[in-house]
Amino acid sequence: MAKQKLAVVTGASKGIGAAIARRLAADGFHVVLTARTEAGLIETEDAIHAAGGTATIAPVDLLKGEDIDKLGVAIGSRWDKLDLLVLNAATLGSLTPLAHASPKEFETVMALNVTAQWRLIRAFDAMLRKGRGTIVVVTSSVATRAEPYWGPYSASKAALENMAGVYAEEMRALGVNVLVVDPGGTRTAMRARAFPGEDPNSLKTPDTVADAIGAALPGLPAGLSRLKVAKDGTASLLAAA
Ligand SMILES: NC(=O)c1ccc[n+]([C@@H]2O[C@H](COP(=O)([O-])OP(=O)(O)OC[C@H]3O[C@@H](n4cnc5c(N)ncnc54)[C@H](OP(=O)(O)O)[C@@H]3O)[C@@H](O)[C@H]2O)c1
Repeated sequence: MAKQKLAVVTGASKGIGAAIARRLAADGFHVVLTARTEAGLIETEDAIHAAGGTATIAPVDLLKGEDIDKLGVAIGSRWDKLDLLVLNAATLGSLTPLAHASPKEFETVMALNVTAQWRLIRAFDAMLRKGRGTIVVVTSSVATRAEPYWGPYSASKAALENMAGVYAEEMRALGVNVLVVDPGGTRTAMRARAFPGEDPNSLKTPDTVADAIGAALPGLPAGLSRLKVAKDGTASLLAAA
């Protein structure tokens, strides 16, 4: 029997990350679930086990760079290669005029949405090369759109996308692919914080996004590709130029 593939999913305690983790486990991956909230990770793990899948929880605060390095070492000591790294965890910060953002909050948004993502790539680079693996990078439409009041988050997602593109080009010949996913408006805690007056039932569910990602993964082109999930849940996969 083929050895089980390994995936690491960040932000797996709730929302889109939890749904991606459940979908990957259903597709046969052993999934390492990471986020800060242990109770949320256990909830995701329980759902995976109930559906017949396998998972391991690894509570980590991604704002602590050395803990990311330790996570890489711990996973590397148990598994020899990584098939899939899902960079999903992020923070929205406050929606505010750019000049009103507090320095502390600006730095936190950049620290989680950019620096921690780089450090995760760094921590898992060797295992990804060995597995000729894939990185899924969860972005936002505001990465490429100047949306008033979304300054720090928008700047962080733009940096994240560019960094993902650089890594994809560096890895193209080595067989590591990068999929940048724009989930679009999705029924999660982050979305409710951004749009408190919105009816959550008008939004697609995290499972819809996870299913679009799960369906796209087996057929990815080499290098960088992009997946955009529309309001009705349909998804389009584009190979980046
Ligand atoms: N929902 C949308 O409409 C939407 C639209 C476009 C893009 N996105 C993107 O989709 C991704 C998932 O968002 P979501 O809507 O599912 O958000 P969410 O429900 O707020 O979940 C965010 C996840 O990130 C984790 N996280 C936050 N800070 C962390 C930290 N310091 N260390 C470790 N983990 C941390 C949270 O876990 P803990 O709190 O347990 O640590 C949680 O699991 C994000 O990249 C977001 O930018 C979402």
